[in-house]
Amino acid sequence: MSQRTFSIIKPDAVRNGDTGAILAEIAKAGFKIVSIKKMSISRQQAEGFYHVHAARPFFGELCEFMSSGPIFPMVLEKENAIADLRKLMGATDPAKAEVGTIRQKFAASIGENAIHGSDGEDTAAFEIGYFFAGVELK
Ligand code: CDP
Ligand code: MG
Repeated sequence: MSQRTFSIIKPDAVRNGDTGAILAEIAKAGFKIVSIKKMSISRQQAEGFYHVHAARPFFGELCEFMSSGPIFPMVLEKENAIADLRKLMGATDPAKAEVGTIRQKFAASIGENAIHGSDGEDTAAFEIGYFFAGVELK
């Protein structure tokens, strides 16, 4: 059964000119792009998105980074989309990411790691709703 997940091409990857190459990897892996847009978010909007990490030591730096430049939030669809995107992304720390994954190819550090992907059905639903209205998701 087809499933939707939420992803962001993060500011480091956009700054490095890797957006097109990352979208190509996502398409090659069989995802349909349901919706995508380019935008910048405020520090406060980043804090709301990552609220589950509010108590973590890296929270401040993470929100600073996510609001440091344009991003491409997107909704992706395929069978098993949530788990398959996590696999395609690779480990949070690019040094530990499997060869061929997006983070292994495009990320520089555990903080600036090129791409976000939802980690479960509940977070996917929250994250899609955080960035997209229903009329953008036909
Ligand atoms: O993005 P992912 O789900 O793989 O990792 P997370 O544990 O949900 O953390 C969210 C984001 O916080 C990561 O993607 C990194 O950008 C950042 N982070 C960090 O800066 N330092 C860490 N030790 C862990 C995460
Ligand atoms: Mg996560």
